[in-house]
Amino acid sequence: MNHLVAPSLLAANFGNLQHDIDMINQSAADWLHLDIMDGVFVPNISFGMPVVKAIRKLTSKPLDTHLMIIDPQRYISRFSELGVDRLTVHLETCQDPADTIEQIKDAGMKAGISISPDTPVSSLEAILTEADLFLIMSVHPGFGAQGFIESSYEKIRALRHMLTASGSPALIEVDGGVSLKNAGNLVEAGVDVLVAGNTVFSSPDPKETIRLLKAYSSSNDLKSSDA
Ligand code: DX5
Ligand code: ZN
Repeated sequence: MNHLVAPSLLAANFGNLQHDIDMINQSAADWLHLDIMDGVFVPNISFGMPVVKAIRKLTSKPLDTHLMIIDPQRYISRFSELGVDRLTVHLETCQDPADTIEQIKDAGMKAGISISPDTPVSSLEAILTEADLFLIMSVHPGFGAQGFIESSYEKIRALRHMLTASGSPALIEVDGGVSLKNAGNLVEAGVDVLVAGNTVFSSPDPKETIRLLKAYSSSNDLKSSDA
């Protein structure tokens, strides 16, 4: 499949979210990535339900919601009611990941499981065919604009191998330090969904940057129309 691009709103201008969401609406972005942080699982607090509710009214792009919170099961139905399309929780926060995945699906959303940089992909073995998406964090979760952790390539390649071997159609998403420099290599390594915050919102032409992130092919080159 052609890979997808999900701009992370964490890097947007929160003083004028409507402006930045309008830009995303007009862009080639596939999903809008929302980072929810609780100040406990990660050393930062982002935004919560009222903001997600407001965002839902401003876009029809699928909301790809990344929970960096403890006890995520407590909030599954709330996010479903808010109109979230995809809910990703951290493996490190789940006592019973398979059960959490089932609860997310039962609530009518696609279910994702994320792992932090220090968590090995082998810990996903038991749920390869359960989740709809696996999110590999390529920075330590909590903040935007950090440097990409190079060892993430190895995890992505290994996970791609594991998914193929198990016959799982789950998507691989990568989040943290994604740039125009590494996007092609990431797609080449097996990524289906590129999340990008700083790269998109700090660029002089965010819409064009989203287009360029979409244009990288798995052959690691810009498609000929972009040459
Ligand atoms: C970090 C978040 C990311 C963040 C990525 O914990 O999960 O989604 O916004 O930001 P960049 O793309 O700037 O590294
Ligand atoms: Zn994220």
